[in-house]
Amino acid sequence: MDMEQLFETAKKAAEASYSPYSHFKVGAALLCEDGSIFTGTNVENRSFGLTICAERSAVVAAVSAGKRRFVALAIATPDSIEPVGPCGACRQVLSEFMDKDAPVRCGGSSPQRLDTTIGALVPFDSLHELAQKQ
Ligand code: THU
Repeated sequence: MDMEQLFETAKKAAEASYSPYSHFKVGAALLCEDGSIFTGTNVENRSFGLTICAERSAVVAAVSAGKRRFVALAIATPDSIEPVGPCGACRQVLSEFMDKDAPVRCGGSSPQRLDTTIGALVPFDSLHELAQKQ
């Protein structure tokens, strides 16, 4: 599974997006240490603040299935032309289960890709003393 295949999986996950308020579909695909893949999509709510992002949906699905180490992430935002990175809350949650050098690929509807790492997205871990070794 290369990063573009993982991105295609994220794109597919975005099709299930429940986003009647923003009309902005997001799909996320997490590659686990054991090779399994878990996806998530954004789930909005009429009480706007309760919206769950695609990335955290994927984390919750994977952890619920017993997975705790993720080695790569792809995020697809088919309603934007350019790539969109994860929000601050999702960066924090993802960093709980991913090493700093874990690759992240983001892409919108154009062929442009944003390739980065979890460490670059979370350059300063203010809670590192609380981090658990799982
Ligand atoms: N969204 C995500 O799912 N992930 C992100 O990283 C950014 C934002 C969702 C939340 C909301 O449903 C829509 O995109 C617009 O913000």
